Amino acid sequence: MMKVIHSYWAYIVLAVLIYAVFNAVVGLVQKKEFTHKDFRLGLFTLIVTHIQLLIGLGWYFMSPWYKSMKANGIDATNRLLAVEHPIMMILAIVLITMGWSKHKKQVKSESKFKTFALFYGLGLLFILSRIPWSNWF
Ligand code: HEM
Ligand code: HEM
Repeated sequence: MMKVIHSYWAYIVLAVLIYAVFNAVVGLVQKKEFTHKDFRLGLFTLIVTHIQLLIGLGWYFMSPWYKSMKANGIDATNRLLAVEHPIMMILAIVLITMGWSKHKKQVKSESKFKTFALFYGLGLLFILSRIPWSNWF
């Protein structure tokens, strides 16, 4: 059940995050003013990724393969799910959270968009790099 939620929630994470990065780049390039709509989008993206973190951590320790990993250790077949995916996703979410915190301290619209483009953008790249694509589709 948790696995299914994590799997479907990932579509929402990707969609919202891609939109947020796109929105930040457009705002930056077109020198737009940072409005309440941009603020809400950044916050919504933060919440959606934090929820995915919670579900992911929950599933990690509940999953049947976690038990078998404890018994048999980590090898090439389970390293992606056991180590690489969780670590990269946590780093991505740390970056996104840092971006959120930093943007709040900035005053100029340009700086806010730049912070979102950089931190949310890097987070997105981290996520894309370690999604278990072959399990997912
Ligand atoms: C393992 C679970 C979680 C961890 C470790 C975590 C960690 C954090 C951290 C470190 C911040 C600091 C942001 C700052 O410096 O301003 C934060 C902010 C936030 N988190 Fe989480 N979070 C988790 C789960 C959740 C969940 C489940 C939700 C929503 C349902 C959530 C919603 C938020 C929101 C809304 C903020 C931003 C507050 C603001 O700046 O206005 N988080 N979280
Ligand atoms: C933005 C963050 C994340 C995204 C977008 C994401 C996305 C995904 C996707 C698409 C899958 C494949 C699902 C499937 O097999 O149908 C997956 C699997 C998994 N994820 Fe995440 N994930 C995130 C964060 C995390 C975190 C923080 C953890 C744990 C600490 C975690 C633990 C797992 C585990 C254990 C699986 C394997 C499920 C299984 O096959 O039993 N994920 N994730």
